[in-house]
Amino acid sequence: MSVTQKNLFDRVLDYANRANPYPIYEEMRKQPVVRQDDGRYVVSTFNEVRAALLDPRFSVDPRKGDRKLNRPLVDGQEPAFVRLDPPKHDWLRRQVMSKFTPELVSGLSPRIEEIVLDLLNGRRNESQLDIVEDFAYPLPVTIICEILGVPRADEPRFHEWTERLIKGFDVGQRHNEELRIQANQASEQLNSYMSDLITRIQQQPRDGLLSAIIHGKQLEERISKDDLVRTAVLLLIAGHETTVNLITNSMLTLLRFPEHLERLRQEPESVPNLVEEVLRYEPPVQYVLRNTLTDVTLADVKIPRGSPVALMLASANRDPARYPDPNRFDPARKNIEHLSFGNGIHYCVGAPLARLEAQIALVALARRITHPRLLSDPPPYRASSLLRGPRHLPVSVERVLPIV
Ligand code: HEM
Repeated sequence: MSVTQKNLFDRVLDYANRANPYPIYEEMRKQPVVRQDDGRYVVSTFNEVRAALLDPRFSVDPRKGDRKLNRPLVDGQEPAFVRLDPPKHDWLRRQVMSKFTPELVSGLSPRIEEIVLDLLNGRRNESQLDIVEDFAYPLPVTIICEILGVPRADEPRFHEWTERLIKGFDVGQRHNEELRIQANQASEQLNSYMSDLITRIQQQPRDGLLSAIIHGKQLEERISKDDLVRTAVLLLIAGHETTVNLITNSMLTLLRFPEHLERLRQEPESVPNLVEEVLRYEPPVQYVLRNTLTDVTLADVKIPRGSPVALMLASANRDPARYPDPNRFDPARKNIEHLSFGNGIHYCVGAPLARLEAQIALVALARRITHPRLLSDPPPYRASSLLRGPRHLPVSVERVLPIV
């Protein structure tokens, strides 16, 4: 194995490869499990990534691995439940799931339609759109605020903190002390903002999931304020920072393959499978991180206890052993069952919501925007290699049609 083959993960982290990391993943899959020079293991093939996601010997807790490689983001603090192992993970997740029900999500369709309509009506006289700023960001952020009961007017404040937190998240930035300090400060600001909001909701019930959890009767045991703050911040960030990429990646892909955009315009009922194919082809979360709790052998490679491991979801989704012709974008593909929402006990809580938002958004865009053209390809990307997506997606349009 060549040196460059060994350290391919570092090339994924490199911003120069953000627009197209897929050739690197192809190279990676020649060795399903590889140890990098810095001690991190990288898993890149479908069966192995899925097996690791389902294996309780792989912990999500950053405090359980090599601290140099996987330092916990926020010093001295317990993480949110996405970074906790059972039993506490399961208990906190249950508290959320008891209120974040399938009925709640499916009941949101009319509201999502309404927001989409308002956003597009607001751009009716424009000949140029930024799909991110004008559409893909405001939709999920408005919805997650309404679900949680977070005032939408506070968005400019938590947007800035979230941006700084995500920059500090990036494993590629783990040696950048300045970004790390800023991410810690941003985390404190987010937590303190959420703590004040929760105090107000404790005093005065209101609509939304946070109030339902705080004032709910059937909780097994009361959730502590600190746990609720961390859970609320997790839901707020996960609720929009990923869906923005899904909607934007979808439009980018459809504009690169206009025949599929045309088909969506003609057959809006094809949208669910199209969204699954975008999730497979351009996953908003490119990889997830784990630490081994014990020695584990995977694809004949022994991973020692305490090792940090990157599970490359985006690479698994293009494994030719699982998907015929994996680099082809094919919205009619059967049995997609990608790993973009993870798998096992940490499977994404918001998957049904993200799907619904993207489906409604894409049908509306396909039907109401005439003659859209990409103004820059590739578009400028956000810094993060983990939450990968365009920062802006400028598109010229002939018209944004009035309601159809
Ligand atoms: C396209 C959009 C989304 C993608 C691609 C995505 C992806 C993921 C992935 C890969 C995980 C697993 C993380 C791991 O195993 O380490 C995850 C977990 C999670 N997601 Fe999402 N997500 C999306 C949207 C959402 C939304 C809209 C919400 C909230 C409303 C949400 C809330 C969560 C939460 C709370 C977890 C932690 C689950 C657990 O640890 O049990 N996500 N998501």
